[in-house]
Amino acid sequence: MQNPEKVQNAASVITSALSGMPGQGGRPPRPRVGVVCGTGLGGLAEALADARPLPYSQVPGFPQSTVASHEGRFLFGRIGTVDVVLQQGRCHLYEGYAPEDVCMGVRVMATLGVEVLIITNAAGALNPRWDAGDLMLLTDHVNFTGRSPLTGPNHDAWGPRFPDMSAPYDAALGRIAMEEAARLGVRLERGVYAGVPGPQMETPAETRMYRHLGADAVGMSTVLEVIAARHMGLRVLGISCLTNKNLPDCMKEAPLEEVIRVAGEAGDKLTRLVAAVVERV
Ligand code: HPA
Repeated sequence: MQNPEKVQNAASVITSALSGMPGQGGRPPRPRVGVVCGTGLGGLAEALADARPLPYSQVPGFPQSTVASHEGRFLFGRIGTVDVVLQQGRCHLYEGYAPEDVCMGVRVMATLGVEVLIITNAAGALNPRWDAGDLMLLTDHVNFTGRSPLTGPNHDAWGPRFPDMSAPYDAALGRIAMEEAARLGVRLERGVYAGVPGPQMETPAETRMYRHLGADAVGMSTVLEVIAARHMGLRVLGISCLTNKNLPDCMKEAPLEEVIRVAGEAGDKLTRLVAAVVERV
């Protein structure tokens, strides 16, 4: 379990930094929506009005991502009339971080007052009907990491010892996302995300197994952050950018450059979709 004092301290430092950055109307930003930007969603930064960055290096105890394709900062601003905070860059289990480090961003955003979490990622498509470059709305997930951010003593002020996971992804937010995708002409599939520890990609036998066990896409993030978010009562919307096809009988290599390239190409529609959803939450 996360150290509550560490999270509170990080949130306090951010709050005082924000009080020195008044935005529209002379008041500091009060984000109600937080967006975790996975690979490819960097473009959302440009959709932000009144954007004010805060590097993780200025937040005490905040873990830095060692992945070159991930920036390391919060970005506070507005989309339409909605105050948002972007988490640009996250850390992962495969970097050697503990579950509580992986979830610190979510804990801090919730402590700052965020009520809705939009979480995005790059993932491999296990569903054979889908293509690289498609987007997938997460309807559910399977936590294959073998880890949980809730292991250890529970901090009751955050949430219950045994948080419910019968509806990890918010159905109403999912409906808004489907409607906005249709309006924008963006293809948005719906499916189950398998969260794995990585960093190695899957063998053919592993992709066959994940598919048989009910997953439509596989990736190396998100599930722990969603557990922490649900523990704190946040409403969650999850969207994967499917960067490669992951089919057991015709496996192809999916080098990082390819994942980043496809995520970058699909990033524009993901950005437009997320921006449209934020305006309606
Ligand atoms: N597997 C795991 N993680 C990923 C993949 C994949 O195929 N593509 C992007 N992230």
